[in-house]
Amino acid sequence: MMTGRFPVESFQQIDTPFYYYDLDLLRHTLGIIADYAPEPNFHVHYALKACAVPEVLREIVSAGLGADCVSGGEIRAALEAGVPAGRIVFAGVAKADWEIALALDSDILCFNVESVEELEVISNMAAGRGKTARVCLRVNPDIDAHTHQNITTGLADNKFGIQMSDLQRAIEVCCLLPNIEFLGLHFHIGSQITDMQPFRNLCMRINTLVEQTEQSGVIVRHINVGGGLGINYEHPNHIPVADFEAYFNVFRRMLNLRPEQTLHFELGRSVVAPCGSLITRVLYVKQGKEKQFAIVDAGMTDLIRPALYNAFHRIENISNNGPVDETYDVVGPICESSDVFVRNFSMAVAHRGDLLAIRSAGAYGEIMASQYNLRRLPGHITSDNIGKLKKK
Ligand code: LLP
Repeated sequence: MMTGRFPVESFQQIDTPFYYYDLDLLRHTLGIIADYAPEPNFHVHYALKACAVPEVLREIVSAGLGADCVSGGEIRAALEAGVPAGRIVFAGVAKADWEIALALDSDILCFNVESVEELEVISNMAAGRGKTARVCLRVNPDIDAHTHQNITTGLADNKFGIQMSDLQRAIEVCCLLPNIEFLGLHFHIGSQITDMQPFRNLCMRINTLVEQTEQSGVIVRHINVGGGLGINYEHPNHIPVADFEAYFNVFRRMLNLRPEQTLHFELGRSVVAPCGSLITRVLYVKQGKEKQFAIVDAGMTDLIRPALYNAFHRIENISNNGPVDETYDVVGPICESSDVFVRNFSMAVAHRGDLLAIRSAGAYGEIMASQYNLRRLPGHITSDNIGKLKKK
């Protein structure tokens, strides 16, 4: 599937900056996920933290995915979008009491628990409701995902999860607490992982930990391997879908999964990143001493990934089909020198008023927007509703 064609005429009617979601690409991606993970005991929970736009969520729900939530707000959004409570998992290193209450009252599938203290709080709150909370223990597997240091989570010095050395005790506590039901183990090693080796290493670690746990007489029914599959930010038009085939094959081939065990995935970025673009307008083209700046009306408040992680997003001048032969720093209007989308980047020549598409921004884009400088939050439109726009 080739992507990269934008309805530029229709875009002229919309105030910039805004996010554009290509729902055809999203549906295509969801079809590929279904093709490569057809086993009834494989469950994909979409990580809402990547993007919670209702129109996007609705497609994901229709495809039958569950939800991975990290806050009460996300649990509400998942329920409102129609995710059955029995497909919602709830993670997070510090769940507030009201969030635990909401999860218990909604009867979600499972809490991913990160400490013994949290187990005790959940057990008490469940007892107060006459309920039993189902839990997986989040284990820190000490595996290097070799991604950006800000998005690596599975290393030993990280705040996430229970250390492997403390796992046995945490499982014992689960078995002792009257209102806790131990379901299994949860892991997550990081994000934007495109090399499959860290996932293979994770599988080997899981096999060992499950074996150890079961030797102590405790059955592991759920294995949750988290998310993390990366996408190709360099070539959004030619490689618009993550390598789900390789990803699911790693787990299919390397995990010693028994037929009665269920395998859970929490994919965020790989599901939605390619289908979203931030559409922005060139306000000024400014000649610096050594540089040429394309100053646009979107800033780090609309898409913070380049400023925060030095992340690359391809940018296209969608108002100009001409040759890609000018070099720009594409920068935003915010009073911060880190408000730069890309430096020394080749694009078709840009003029005031041109529309640029900042690609692969569907994940951790709109959802991370802020109002710093008292700016408006960016709006969004989808490929399904763009045709319904009235002419201005
Ligand atoms: N499960 C857990 C426990 C997580 O912490 C995350 C992401 C996911 C699943 C989903 O991971 P994904 O499939 O999207 O890689 N804002 C950063 C990414 C932060 C990821 C945080 N955790 C970025 O823009 O790159």
